[in-house]
This record gives sequence, C-alpha cells and structure tokens, in this order.
Amino acid sequence: MQKLAIQGGNRLNGEVRISGAKNAALPIMCASLLAADDLILANLPDMHDVATMGKLLQQMGVKIEPDGQTTRFNAAHVDKLEAPYDMVKTMRAAILVLGPLVARFGEARVSLPGGCAIGSRPVDLHIKGLQAMGAEIHIEHGYIHATASRLKGARICFDLVSVTGTENLMMAAALADGVTVLENAAREPEVIDLAVCLRAMGAKVSGDGTDTITITGVDKLHGASHRIMPDRIESGTFLVAAAATGGKIVLTDARADILDNVLDKLREAGAKIEVSGDRIELEMDRRPTAVNLRTAPYPAFPTDMQAQFMALNTIAEGSAIVVETIFENRFMHVQELRRLGAQIDVEGNTAVIKGCAQLEGATVMATDLRASASLVIAGLVAQGETVVDRIYHLDRGYEHIEAKLSALGAQIRRIK
Ligand code: EPZ
Repeated sequence: MQKLAIQGGNRLNGEVRISGAKNAALPIMCASLLAADDLILANLPDMHDVATMGKLLQQMGVKIEPDGQTTRFNAAHVDKLEAPYDMVKTMRAAILVLGPLVARFGEARVSLPGGCAIGSRPVDLHIKGLQAMGAEIHIEHGYIHATASRLKGARICFDLVSVTGTENLMMAAALADGVTVLENAAREPEVIDLAVCLRAMGAKVSGDGTDTITITGVDKLHGASHRIMPDRIESGTFLVAAAATGGKIVLTDARADILDNVLDKLREAGAKIEVSGDRIELEMDRRPTAVNLRTAPYPAFPTDMQAQFMALNTIAEGSAIVVETIFENRFMHVQELRRLGAQIDVEGNTAVIKGCAQLEGATVMATDLRASASLVIAGLVAQGETVVDRIYHLDRGYEHIEAKLSALGAQIRRIK
C-alpha cells in the first residue's frame, strides 16, 4: 500500500494546470463503442480510473492508441460484449458500457457493480430505462444480461437524478429507432461534454444541461475528435487546499462558469477570487470562516466537493453544518479527520463541524476518492507530519496530485 507523507504548515503558492475531467472522460471513452470509426480524444487525464476503463474497452476489442497529445479509440472490431466482475468491482463507472453495447450490438453482459464505500449505489434506473427502450434484461449470477434487436425511443422519467444513468441512456438512445426524452435528467457539465462529443459523432441530442434531454436516434454514428473538458472537482480541490493553507494560487486551463456554487462558498469563507478566461486566482489572507453546505445535483453544491470543504471547516472560525443528500454514507472522512483533532459530530446525513485553531498531524486512512483529498488538505494544514494510507483511492481520480501540490510549495512525498 502506498502512502503520502505530508509536513503541514506551508502556504500553497503558484500556478497549477487543471487536467481533463475524470467524470467526462469515462462516459466519453465508452461512446467510442457507438461507432466503427476513430474517436480521437484530447486532454484525457492520466489517472487510474481512465487506465481501468481503457483496459475494459481493450478486452472488448477496442483499439486504443496514444498519439502525442491525443488518444485514438477504434471500436470497429469489438468481439466481446462483456464487462467482467473483476473490472467492474473496482470501478462502478464500467456500467457505462451497457447502453452503448446494447445500442450498437444488441447485447451486453455487464457485472452488477458491488456497493462501494460511499453507498450501495444501485443501477436500477439504468436498467429500467433500457427496458423502457425495449431491451430484454435478465439478472443472473451477478450479471446484467441485456438483449435488444433494436432499441426503440421512449419517454423516460428518472425517479432520482442520476449522472451515469442519464449518460448511459443518452448513449443508448443515440442509435435507437425514434425519439427518446429523458426527464429529470442530470444537468452536470460532464453530461453536456458527452452530448457535445455525441453530436460531433452525428448524434441528434438537445436539451443537455437542462432536466429534459431529447435524443432522436440515427442508424449510424461516425468518428470524431473531442477535447475533454477541465475537471471542476480537481479545480475545487486545489482552491480549497489553497484557502485552507492561506495561500495564493492560479488555476490554468480551468472553467469558472461550472463552479459558481463552489466559488460562492469559497468567497463566503473569506477567499478573494479573480476569474479571467481559463484562469481562476484565489487568495486567502486570513483564517477561513466556517460555511454551511448542503449537497444536491448540479448546479447546487456538488457532493464530490463535500469532503474537501469539511476539511476547510475543521480549521475555520465558527461552526458549520454539512448535509449530504446524495449518498447515504459519504462521511467516511469524518473519523479520520477526528484523528487529526477535528471536532465533528454526525447525526444521520448531517455533520456539525466546530472549527479549531490547529490540527495535529497523525496517520490516517483513505477510504474513498474524495475522502482522500480531504485528508490531504487537512494534512497540509496540520502541525507536524500526517501520513495518508491507502492512497490508491486518490490515484483513481487525481492526476499526479503530489507533483502538483509540491510545485505549489507543499511538503509532500509518496512512500512506496
Ligand atoms: C456520478 O456517479 C459521479 N461518477 C460521482 O463521482 C458523483 O459523486 C455522482 O455522479 C453524483 O454527482 C461519475 O460520473 C463516473 P448517480 P453516479 O447515479 O452516476 C442513486 C467521484 O468522486 N442511484 O448520480 O454513480 C445513487 O445511489 C464520483 O468522482 C440509484 O438509486 O451517481 C445515488 O444515491 C463519486 N439508482 C444517487 O442516485 C440508480 O440506478 C446519485 O447517483 C442510479 C443512482
């Protein structure tokens, strides 16, 4: 198990380039299954989940060839319509091959994702949507076995807002016969990025970014080139780290227009933020003020930023209330933050954080991707050394995070 050793107390200063968004790259890589021509992707982030998705697609027969700044995907010779358990169990997003496989090949066998640290995370909405489009689905031996001669357009209303549910059905509908309307669809920017890529491939998609997305199926899609959008959660993570350490940083290749709620909360905490084009500058010249948070689907405060902000609140002036409404168990970082001296009480999906002047370094354990980021942020401000264990969670969703943090002045090193 690799660890990160962090010496707290340094203010973060300097410039950091934001990588391509993991949660846009994963569905868009699966979109390559929808056509027999090349899908050329730029700005793919170098992180574990992207590598895992690449391996999953390759074992199906997708050719993947890095070519300088871009990567070429070609699904002309897919010969295995299956996502095996050993790959799905490590990355729930593997479910995103289901829609494309059924849409283009009329069949798919995808392992049911196990639960994960932050909750049970069922895929019933993905399955219900495909059934509404005419797919025959059997759950057997832990696998979803879906078949359809040709999917038919349908009107589908999601009981819950589901990001990958929306993305899976958008891809399935792209090759279906007729019109599909997705109601109560996810409005996340990553859904829009997928829609942009699908349109470049010849799909007829409109309404992305709103809660009603309309897709008119076509017989065939063709190749395209697409540049993955910047990662808004990586952006938010670095901004919170800079705010927590009282630093001054500039993000480049970033997008402020998809971070409104996060930037508002950082300003409420006392940060000075300047935006110009793809640069976001943050300066924090005093102790943060505690900020209340309530997570909800986009454009409200993102659940993927909850753990990072909780770390900020642990050393802020005053108390804060954090309500997690998306996942039933996304407070795994709380007990680890307590080991650093944080004062946090949890009641159901609500946490109350009483800011303290100083955290003390300790050994802590990462449990999931964003909890890991929270512990790194706490380590950056704690007195003395903090060792974060099981950082494979972090490597799943952040590109070269310790290199980027070191470049900003953090004292952080990886222990093999
Ligand atoms: C996506 O997960 C993201 N992952 C998550 O980011 C993010 O936290 C989440 O959306 C919410 O924004 C990717 O995009 C790859 P959901 P997803 O379906 O699509 C319930 C990260 O840190 N639900 O929007 O799996 C579900 O249990 C990751 O980068 C059902 O009940 O999340 C949850 O409570 C973590 N049935 C809620 O809906 C379903 O069929 C939202 O889940 C689907 C979902």
